[in-house]
Amino acid sequence: MAYSILKCPVCGTEYNIDRYNYLCDKCGNILDVIQKDINEFKKTDYKGVWKYKNIIHPGLEQKFLITKMEGDTNVYHHTRMSEYSGVKDVYMKHEGENPTGSFKDRGMTVAISEAMRLGFKKTLCASTGNTSAAAASYSAYAGIESYVFIPSKKISKNKLMQAYSYGANIVNIDGDFDTAMTNLKNTLKQRNDFYVLNSINPWRVEGQKTIIYEIMERMKPDFISFPAGNLGNTSAFGKALMEMKEMGTIDYIPRLIAVQAEGASPFYNYINNHEDVLHTVKAETIASAIKIGNPVNYIKAKRSIEFTKGIVERVSDDEIIQAKKVIDRSGIGCEPASAASLAGIKKLRDRGIIDKSDKIAGILTGNLLKDMNTDIEINMLSLEQIK
Ligand code: F0G
Repeated sequence: MAYSILKCPVCGTEYNIDRYNYLCDKCGNILDVIQKDINEFKKTDYKGVWKYKNIIHPGLEQKFLITKMEGDTNVYHHTRMSEYSGVKDVYMKHEGENPTGSFKDRGMTVAISEAMRLGFKKTLCASTGNTSAAAASYSAYAGIESYVFIPSKKISKNKLMQAYSYGANIVNIDGDFDTAMTNLKNTLKQRNDFYVLNSINPWRVEGQKTIIYEIMERMKPDFISFPAGNLGNTSAFGKALMEMKEMGTIDYIPRLIAVQAEGASPFYNYINNHEDVLHTVKAETIASAIKIGNPVNYIKAKRSIEFTKGIVERVSDDEIIQAKKVIDRSGIGCEPASAASLAGIKKLRDRGIIDKSDKIAGILTGNLLKDMNTDIEINMLSLEQIK
């Protein structure tokens, strides 16, 4: 029995999951995984992501499952973050606690397990760093080869080091992330021996839904705020909430807040200016993880914003740095892109869209050690200055 199918969100064409090309033959859009029989929010005995196996990949046999126990991340509250944002009940869920230090592991465990099921021996991704770190790690763990397309001069050295250490074949792309993604799409047109691990792959989105399951189980937030780049999370979060509503697991819909960096905000323009098509931009921001001008998932992401009556906000690099300082000095810490979530909360509070009595879940997508490219001045003391 087929538990899941692939379906085009735009023209509705359905495909068998044994297919590994995730673009619709008819209209070229990115397919969705549709779980055929999810009327129950049933949990398994697994921990973390796979606790929700019956709503992310019910038909997957145990022998294909590749996991490093991702998920079950902690949620932090600190008065510094409340004072900074002007919202008392602000809770940050730390996805930097995942095995390779970012939320990508949640999607990667599902995608790599599917690669095993389909019998692939090589994986491929384009990345601003975190996807490549996770892809390299999970491919190595599964015993298969990984190739990563990276604009190596433009991403954090720490992330590049991760991919290199885990043994990825690193292909240097002369250009930015969007150039790397174009190269990936062209490669996939010419070859069928690579399994794609970007969020073009709808199984990645299935894994990332579990962030929302954990949030909705532990708290009942009015808003959920997170940084947005290629819009995989935006797509995943809306899909999770649509399915939970359909199953009757939740009785209200929290509003999503997708926060882009000002210099990389094509989705902000697309939604807020009610544009017919997404206009790509040449991305520029200190938050290298979300320096993306042509996000692949914008159609699914729009569906998420519409379903949740969500908001797309944008914040400047200065606002990102300020928010990062607050998160770091609270003893929690995150990489620059992640801080956009708190910066966005403050901005929407300042604009009166978030009320001070609202309950907010923010998502820290990557950990503090991920990005040392951001210039930091360290004031050190001499021994004599110790008070
Ligand atoms: N935060 C971090 C730390 C990221 O690495 C990314 C994406 C995002 C936020 C944005 O998430 O793409 O789902 O909107 N990084 C990708 C990568 C693009 O290649 O590592 P999104």
